[in-house]
Amino acid sequence: MRPDIIGNWTDPSAMEELGKFISQSLVFAVNGQRFELQTVEPSTTLLEFLRTQTRYTRAKFGCGEGGCGACVVLLATYDPLNEQVKEFAISSCLTLLCSINFCAITTTEGLGDSREGFHPIHERFSGFHASQCGFCTPGMCMSLFSALVNAEKKTERPLPPDGFSKLSVSEAEKAITGNLCRCTGCRPIVDACKSFAADVDLEDLGLNSFWRKGKHSSHIKKLPSYRSSFICTFPEFLKLEIKSFFNFISASQPDQPTKLNVECQKNCTIVSPATLVAGCWYRPSTVDILFKLLNSKEFHENMIKMVVGNTGSGVYKEVDLYDKFIDLRGFLNFLLLN
Ligand SMILES: Cc1cc2nc3c(=O)[nH]c(=O)nc-3n(C[C@H](O)[C@H](O)[C@H](O)COP(=O)(O)OP(=O)(O)OC[C@H]3O[C@@H](n4cnc5c(N)ncnc54)[C@H](O)[C@@H]3O)c2cc1C
Ligand code: FES
Ligand code: FES
Repeated sequence: MRPDIIGNWTDPSAMEELGKFISQSLVFAVNGQRFELQTVEPSTTLLEFLRTQTRYTRAKFGCGEGGCGACVVLLATYDPLNEQVKEFAISSCLTLLCSINFCAITTTEGLGDSREGFHPIHERFSGFHASQCGFCTPGMCMSLFSALVNAEKKTERPLPPDGFSKLSVSEAEKAITGNLCRCTGCRPIVDACKSFAADVDLEDLGLNSFWRKGKHSSHIKKLPSYRSSFICTFPEFLKLEIKSFFNFISASQPDQPTKLNVECQKNCTIVSPATLVAGCWYRPSTVDILFKLLNSKEFHENMIKMVVGNTGSGVYKEVDLYDKFIDLRGFLNFLLLN
């Protein structure tokens, strides 16, 4: 049995077997700061947590249904087998907190601020007059940041000229298609995003405070300089914790340490490590285990929800709170990969 079921288990022998594999708390990072939670109300979203339990409150609650992008943050996962970090822009209003175990979150505060110095994304948004009331800006910045981070990984693309990124104009435009602005207007926002694109014609960009319109007036050197990869999206301490978590599992199986180590690390690419959050969040690794869970007495007496990305809650409004969640990614991704 693989070590990715979570929560209380009604079969004592199975629980005994799984006990040593269960991570007893929810561990993640926000802007490089480590968080470890022992108890979480399982319906809590990442946005609720950020806005009420941390000082990172710039992601906003707009629609609460994945439609406006005001709550967008960057989520990064780490695969210890390939040493690979993957980054995604996510709607934190729909993302359940329990689903981000061993992940790293970056919000606009993580890009920079008045004390540490603003990020060129912030500076260019400001210079292109792309932020009026500012409500949408943190989400816009993070959608663009995610696009920039992912564009830089495209090794087949030539290195961009100094000050630009590997992003194309069309990708820059697409980066913010999930973000709405109700006061500034799209043009300045799109201009700020396009200013990072390697194939942009700077003369096409509109009014800004970096240069006056006219012959030979626009030049990349007049824009706040951009360098790729100077923001760390996945802190080293969390990588080490993930590695030691899986090494711990393999050490507890001395008969086949190498095989299990590889297997466990493979599992990490498929499912992040298991989490026990007050017996409310379960991640079965096979369909069999899922049915065992569903048939167990404990589950008959509770309100249960099965989730994958939980984005469906943006479409079907939920009035009830659930007692228990079953995260299906444990075996769905595994089935997809196979
Ligand atoms: C902004 C926005 C725009 C959208 N636009 C469109 C659109 O244009 N067209 C469209 O078709 N959809 C649209 N959707 C809906 C979108 O397709 C769903 O939200 C998404 O597919 C749900 O995937 P998920 O992994 O997040 O599932 P979840 O939200 O985790 O689950 C959705 C539901 O399915 C159940 N469930 C999940 N997996 C299983 C399973 N394997 N077996 C049984 N039950 C399961 C869950 O219990 C839950 O009730 C939109 C959603 C948003 C937020
Ligand atoms: S608040 Fe609108 S997408 Fe999350
Ligand atoms: S700046 Fe006001 S909503 Fe975009």
